[in-house]
Amino acid sequence: MAVKKTEKIWHNGKLINWDDATLHVMAHVVNYGSSVFEGVRCYSQSKGPAIFRAPEHMQRLINSAKIYRMEVPYTRDELVAAMVELVRVNGVTPCYIRPLVLRGYGQLGVNPMESPIDVYFVNYEWGRYLGHGSDEGVDVCVSSWNRLAPNTMPAMSKAGANYMNSQLIKMEALLNGYVEGIALDVNGNVSEGSGENLFVVYQGSLYTPPLGNSVLPGITRDAVIQLAKEMAITVVEHMIPREMLYIADEVFFSGTAAEITPIRSVDKITVAKGGAGPITKAIQREFFNIVNGVVPDRFHWLTAVPVDSKQPVAV
Ligand SMILES: Cc1ncc(COP(=O)(O)O)c(C=O)c1O
Repeated sequence: MAVKKTEKIWHNGKLINWDDATLHVMAHVVNYGSSVFEGVRCYSQSKGPAIFRAPEHMQRLINSAKIYRMEVPYTRDELVAAMVELVRVNGVTPCYIRPLVLRGYGQLGVNPMESPIDVYFVNYEWGRYLGHGSDEGVDVCVSSWNRLAPNTMPAMSKAGANYMNSQLIKMEALLNGYVEGIALDVNGNVSEGSGENLFVVYQGSLYTPPLGNSVLPGITRDAVIQLAKEMAITVVEHMIPREMLYIADEVFFSGTAAEITPIRSVDKITVAKGGAGPITKAIQREFFNIVNGVVPDRFHWLTAVPVDSKQPVAV
């Protein structure tokens, strides 16, 4: 899906033109994959645009960078303000926001510490990710690729390089006719999708793999846990054996892009009767009610974007 360009990109505290956000081919990130990033959604509500869990995303960006000894020269709140400013100035909603911290053009060699840190924020128009089937559920497979092994690439950091693994999972799934692949961890327990966390409903409880099973600490995952607890559903962060996917009552993905996407089949084995189950539907309904502003934002998940003026404000 082609990105529809917007007017401005936020770069190190300044708004630059979309076409000027270029990198040298010898930038460290191009050669060694040295970047961390975020993916954030901004919803269009009747009272204006609202960014989903902006402080949590910016904290995870800072955490991802810290793991790689990258110092982000902005506070969490300054980064939130930068996102708000960008969305306001470009005036494109609903949109996807892509904050990116990378090692730029400096010394070349594996040692990254001599290369400058560059911070870019981009936003653009965006709709649903796992697409057309997401109300009735999507067909997925278990990938032949494992998720990152502990103490190799840190799964808690949302690093660009991790997505080489995600790309292998995604390509294999698509080429075999599935919408997405679920990766197991190196021990054969369920980990996550190429770009989503996973939930399983089994005997009335909601299971999701713990962070130790090589998953990204998903911000939507956390929102699902909060919603489920509020609905008095037992949430269990526990290792999930592969075969539980086949006998589960419900399986669904969570993620910024996927939002809440029911899974209809795994490896061509239908999950229960197929389609979204009652717990998935209840969580999905409440999630969309909050992000679309149909009900009050009782968890304080949304940051409003003022829409009265298009004048840039320096951060
Ligand atoms: C590998 C991976 N796991 C899980 C997620 C879900 O995380 P979040 O809900 O914060 O988008 C994502 C997407 O960001 C991801 O890329």
